[in-house]
Amino acid sequence: MPPVQSVLARALRRTPLLGLDVAHRGRVRRLGLKLEQHGPTGSVKDRSAVALLRALHAERPLTPGTVVVESTSGNLGLALARLLPAVDCSFLAVVDLKTPPATSRMLTDSGARTVVVDEPDGRGGYLLSRLRTVRELCERNPGYRWPNQYENPASPDIHRRTTGPEITEQAGPSLGAVYVPVSTGGTLAGIAAHLRRHRPDVDVVAVDVSGSTAVAGDTGRRLIPGIGAGRPSAFLKGPRHYDRVLRVDDVEAIAVCRILAEDTGIALGGSSGCAVRALLTDQDNGHADGRLAVCLAADGGEKYHDTLYSDDWADEQGIVKEVAAAAEQLRCEGLFFDRKHQEH
Ligand SMILES: Cc1ncc(COP(=O)(O)O)c(C=O)c1O
Repeated sequence: MPPVQSVLARALRRTPLLGLDVAHRGRVRRLGLKLEQHGPTGSVKDRSAVALLRALHAERPLTPGTVVVESTSGNLGLALARLLPAVDCSFLAVVDLKTPPATSRMLTDSGARTVVVDEPDGRGGYLLSRLRTVRELCERNPGYRWPNQYENPASPDIHRRTTGPEITEQAGPSLGAVYVPVSTGGTLAGIAAHLRRHRPDVDVVAVDVSGSTAVAGDTGRRLIPGIGAGRPSAFLKGPRHYDRVLRVDDVEAIAVCRILAEDTGIALGGSSGCAVRALLTDQDNGHADGRLAVCLAADGGEKYHDTLYSDDWADEQGIVKEVAAAAEQLRCEGLFFDRKHQEH
């Protein structure tokens, strides 16, 4: 078995920035999509998983047979489920009923055990119930290790050291704004820390979703996995981390994902649709110059084929007509994506 540190070092991968033109309401803007789906397990959480395990290992070595437990809506779970067997440890994922079926299958296929929480937390999701379950499991099993992605500073730190610098290097001097979806807030806090220090001229926009209090707002129904939370992020401290917050309607984000896939053949996850929708709203509010806007595309759309991209699923959620109406409205406003630039 190779040493833990070298397994973790090999799991970090640079992801591409894909250039597009986006037309909307008579304006055309250059858009860069930071495609985190090119990470080893297909999401931005590959980076966080490496950082969290490094921190656990530094605190007390991860010896063979160690059980790591974490609350996850899916992506961090997939990353931990891939890494832990490579260091002879095992993973117990605390997920919930909103976890996409494809993600649950992938978790069990990679050898993780799952505990499915079915008790809503009264805040539009399951986060607080998942956390309670993790704490109970750790109390009953004192050998379990919990990285705690919601509060562990290792998570923002890896984005400060990798995701942020990749964005500034790939986008170059014309970078004007960065849109980052928020759940724990680790990704945004790390990218912002890099930008504030090295590119203070760049606007940082926190993207939250309707029904979430990850940054601000009231709790309610949330349909898109990965983005949003039923409690405020422990990492985000206002203007230090973002210039403004945009809360996106989940139905509109789903419509944006479907339009982008139609125009370019690129299927993104729902939180990426939220970031792109936030960019369009920001432009409507007068926050646009000729500079490049980068959206953090936290994962790809394959896992959401049966949900966000499916009309049967939308029908079950009672939003099939709303999604169609939102897509038609966006098309009437001239929304079109043109994939013409090179990847960096
Ligand atoms: C698809 C997706 N988007 C966005 C995020 C938000 O990342 P963070 O928890 O760092 O705020 C996550 C986190 O799991 C995610 O899975």
